Amino acid sequence: MRVIRATDYDDMCRKAANILSAQVILKPNSVLGLATGSTPLGVYKLLAEWYAEGDMDFSETASINLDEYVGLAPDNPQSYRYYMYNNFFRHVNIKQENAHLPNGLAADKTEECARYEAIIRSYNGIDMQLLGIGHNGHIGFNEPGTAFEKDTHCVSLTESTIRANRRFFDNESDVPRFAYTMGIRTIMQARHIVLIASGVGKAEILRESFTGPMTPQVPASILQLHSNVVLVGDEEALSRLQRE
Ligand code: F6R
Repeated sequence: MRVIRATDYDDMCRKAANILSAQVILKPNSVLGLATGSTPLGVYKLLAEWYAEGDMDFSETASINLDEYVGLAPDNPQSYRYYMYNNFFRHVNIKQENAHLPNGLAADKTEECARYEAIIRSYNGIDMQLLGIGHNGHIGFNEPGTAFEKDTHCVSLTESTIRANRRFFDNESDVPRFAYTMGIRTIMQARHIVLIASGVGKAEILRESFTGPMTPQVPASILQLHSNVVLVGDEEALSRLQRE
């Protein structure tokens, strides 16, 4: 694993965006695995700016997102499709037919998981997967205890996640109970992984994930086995990882 130390959030975003842009420049038809959440927002903003300045071209690029809530329509502001569209896709020239997320409205969850894995295979896999990390070590929606062998699957959200999401919805009954997520095996098959983390709140879980035992209780710990992982973190996030 390579660790790239950034001074702060903005610096972390610039470094991660540089890595993703280099990937796309070197291989215009790259398949990018993308994440939502607060950490990548600055990365998408920079890539959009560089596109606007004429430095980037996503016309041949494909993207395959990590996860999506079950039951949310693409125009629901809480859906990950909506997040991706508003924060990235609509600002660049990626073709909509090449920008993939699980379909939150699919009638059959098992079929939807199989369809998503088939999309990934149809592109011959993911060239570069961008990941954030949860405070409990989750990657995608793979919460502690998830088997490392899983492909894309449907998870029931924990009570604490449902409670945390409650504030975004008018009614408790609107809060999604399930989500689709790439599995750990899907993530591990990406050729390169770029994990981004910012803030002191991620420091302890990064230490556990990269210096502790590999265990399903800390899903990100499996990344120790991947041969091409770059961790881009700011000073605070990396404060508990020793400098090599
Ligand atoms: C997002 C995802 C999640 C987040 C993680 C960190 O698609 O799969 O695993 O990456 O929850 O979220 P933030 O960046 O908000 O701290």
